Amino acid sequence: MATLNTPTSLSDAAKKLGVLDMPELDYTPELAREMEPAYKRISSVVPPIEWPAFAPYVKAINKLKKERNAVILAHNYMTPEIFHCIADVVGDSLQLAKEASESDAEVIVQCGVHFMAETSKLLNPEKTVLIPDLKAGCSLSDSITGADVRALKESYPGVPVVTYVNTSAEVKAETDICCTSSNAVQVVESLGVPRVLFLPDEYLAKYVATQTDVEIIAWKGHCIVHERFTPEELRQMRENEPGIKIIAHPECPPAVLAEADFTGSTSGMINWVKTNRPKKALMVTECSMSDNVAVETPGVEFIRPCNLCPYMKKITLPRILDSLVYMQHEVVIDPKIADRARAAVERMVNLKT
Ligand code: 13P
Ligand code: SF4
Repeated sequence: MATLNTPTSLSDAAKKLGVLDMPELDYTPELAREMEPAYKRISSVVPPIEWPAFAPYVKAINKLKKERNAVILAHNYMTPEIFHCIADVVGDSLQLAKEASESDAEVIVQCGVHFMAETSKLLNPEKTVLIPDLKAGCSLSDSITGADVRALKESYPGVPVVTYVNTSAEVKAETDICCTSSNAVQVVESLGVPRVLFLPDEYLAKYVATQTDVEIIAWKGHCIVHERFTPEELRQMRENEPGIKIIAHPECPPAVLAEADFTGSTSGMINWVKTNRPKKALMVTECSMSDNVAVETPGVEFIRPCNLCPYMKKITLPRILDSLVYMQHEVVIDPKIADRARAAVERMVNLKT
């Protein structure tokens, strides 16, 4: 069998640097045999033609992460070759934050977006936290600044601030407590007050308001992935696919959630499918998640109106390998805000929900 071409420049660079004993990035017949079990796991969602480009990276990353004493935390939106072949821990934002607080690795490689890496760094100030691409941002995080929160606090004196983890450390520092989509209602109710500022996701705030008597004052941030779904397309889907179960993330607009059979965080959605095993399911969220769940739920057919998160998709195998070789890009948080931001995250993590 011919050797297929995959980039070797990184391998050469790493050797020149003399930092690590780098495996080659060629897809040789030996490598194909060695990596067969890994491919088998994801073969239902990754076409055979793509695997030769992934396999050498999977091998190299798994080797280097041991040498670096690194743990790879991957969000549910990572592509299957990341999620199933190199991740040590997978989950939603809350699970990844909790895992970050318990990890004893020296290095954390965050396969997700920047606010997730910042959360990991806040919970592990003494560890090296790497994000493979600095452009892995988030439209919700970009929708609000620390100055915006300070202005809101002046307009609503004494009203506590609950902030979604999808925010910068600067915003978290202005916050009483953080929440994720899986614990937002419990966090709001834990404060024992009649009203809260809930920032920055307007649609998550509206969803929380339907689940509690606490008055919710919202901001105007939106997720560019979830705001694009429409109730019309979901109704059309039900008509075309009789018996389909529609499972939605609470970052979707209220009219979309009204069409869903279940609403929950990304892990909540996954657990619902694993428990209920519908014949057909539509995950109203980022596209890769359906692939990742499909690997573990044979017999469930996933119908995919595909909305990709351009930020999550910045994280690729070559960038993860770069990140381990060059120890880039290290997350650094301004010490002037770190303690206050950490307190808001820790208050959430320590909450018994
Ligand atoms: P989860 O906490 O549900 O994983 O959500 C994170 C996210 O960014 C969804 O768009
Ligand atoms: Fe942010 Fe939306 Fe992407 Fe999640 S899916 S990281 S909320 S832009």
